[in-house]
Amino acid sequence: MSLVMGAMASAAVGTAAQLGVADVLAQGPATAPELAKAVDADADSLGSVLQALTALGVFTRDEQGRYANSPLSEPLRSDHPESVRNLAALLCGLYGHAATGGLTEAVRTGTSVMPTAFGVSLYEYLDQHPDSARIFDRAMEDWARPIGTVLAEHVPFAGVRTVVDVGGGNGTLLKAILTAHPHLRGVCVDRPDTCRRAEAELAASGSADLADRLTFQPADILHEVPAGGDLYILKNVLHDWSSESGVQILRNIRRAVVPEGATPTEDSSKLLVIDPLVEHDSGAAFRNLVKMVVGEAQARERSEADMRREAKEAGFHVLSITPCPADLSITACTPV
Ligand SMILES: C[S@@+](CC[C@H](N)C(=O)[O-])C[C@H]1O[C@@H](n2cnc3c(N)ncnc32)[C@H](O)[C@@H]1O
Repeated sequence: MSLVMGAMASAAVGTAAQLGVADVLAQGPATAPELAKAVDADADSLGSVLQALTALGVFTRDEQGRYANSPLSEPLRSDHPESVRNLAALLCGLYGHAATGGLTEAVRTGTSVMPTAFGVSLYEYLDQHPDSARIFDRAMEDWARPIGTVLAEHVPFAGVRTVVDVGGGNGTLLKAILTAHPHLRGVCVDRPDTCRRAEAELAASGSADLADRLTFQPADILHEVPAGGDLYILKNVLHDWSSESGVQILRNIRRAVVPEGATPTEDSSKLLVIDPLVEHDSGAAFRNLVKMVVGEAQARERSEADMRREAKEAGFHVLSITPCPADLSITACTPV
C-alpha cells in the first residue's frame, strides 16, 4: 500500500517544495497556521500535507504543534548547496501529473506520455505555461549544479577559448565553468524562450563579468548548432530523444565543429556528451520512466554501446567514457 499511496506522498513533497515550506522553517519552527500565512496557503489544508510529510519523516513536529526541518527537508530549501527544491517541484508536479494522467495509455500505444496526457510535447507545454517553464529551468539548475563544479575542476580548459553548451538551459553549467576559468567565453544554445529568460536573469544578477563572457544563442538544435566553439558540451539532452533524433543532434554538432567539405584535424573541437549511461546509473530503471513521460517517443537512456554507435553514425569517434557523480557519464568525442 505504501507504493500505491506513492503518488500522494510525491504530490505532498511537491506541494511543500513549490510553496517554499522548508525556506520558512529555515528561520525557525512554526505551526501550520503560521506557515500557511507565510506561504499564502489555507491553514487546514497545509496542516494535512504537513502531517502526512511528518509521518514520512520529511518534517518534524513538537508537542506545541510546531513543525521544523529534518535532514530530509533541508535540501528543499532554496539556499541549500545541494538544493532539489525545484527538481522536486517539477518531478512531483508537472511530471507526476503527466505520469498519473497518461502512462497507462502511453504504454498501450507506445507513445510519449506528455502528449497523451496534455495533448502537447513537454517543450510546447512549457512555451504555453511560463510558470512551469521557470520551475523547469530552475530544476535543470538543481540538476546541473553538482556537475558544473566537477567539470570546472577536471576538464583541461587551458587550450580552450569558447565553450558551447548545446541545450544548456539557463547556463548554470557554463556559469560554473566560466567562474572557475576567467579566460573562457561561453555560448549557451537553447530554445528562444529559455534564452530570453536566462538572458534577463543574467542581466539582473549584476554580474558584469559573466554577462560579458556568457551569451545565449537561440536555436533549434534538431536543425542547427552554431559554429565557433573550441569545446562543445551536450548534457542531459540526448536521452530525451529517440536514437534517430539523437544522431541528428550529434550530426548538427559535427557540422558546427567541421564545416561542410572540410577534413577534421587534431585541433578540431571536441565534444563532451554528459548523460547517464545504463552501465553506470543506479537509477536507470526509473530514469527511463521519466524519459517515457517527458521525452520523445522511444527516448531511452543509452548504454555505452548505444553511445558509441550514435557517435559513429554522426561522424564522431569516442575517445573515452568516464563515470562521474550524480549517475552521469562523460563521453569524450572527436570528429572523424
Ligand atoms: C533536460 S534539459 C537539460 C538542460 C541542461 N543541459 C542541464 O543539464 O541542466 C534539456 C534542454 O534542452 C533544451 N531543448 C529541448 N529541445 C530543444 C531544441 N529543439 N532546440 C534547442 N534546445 C532544446 C531544453 O530547453 C532544455 O533546456
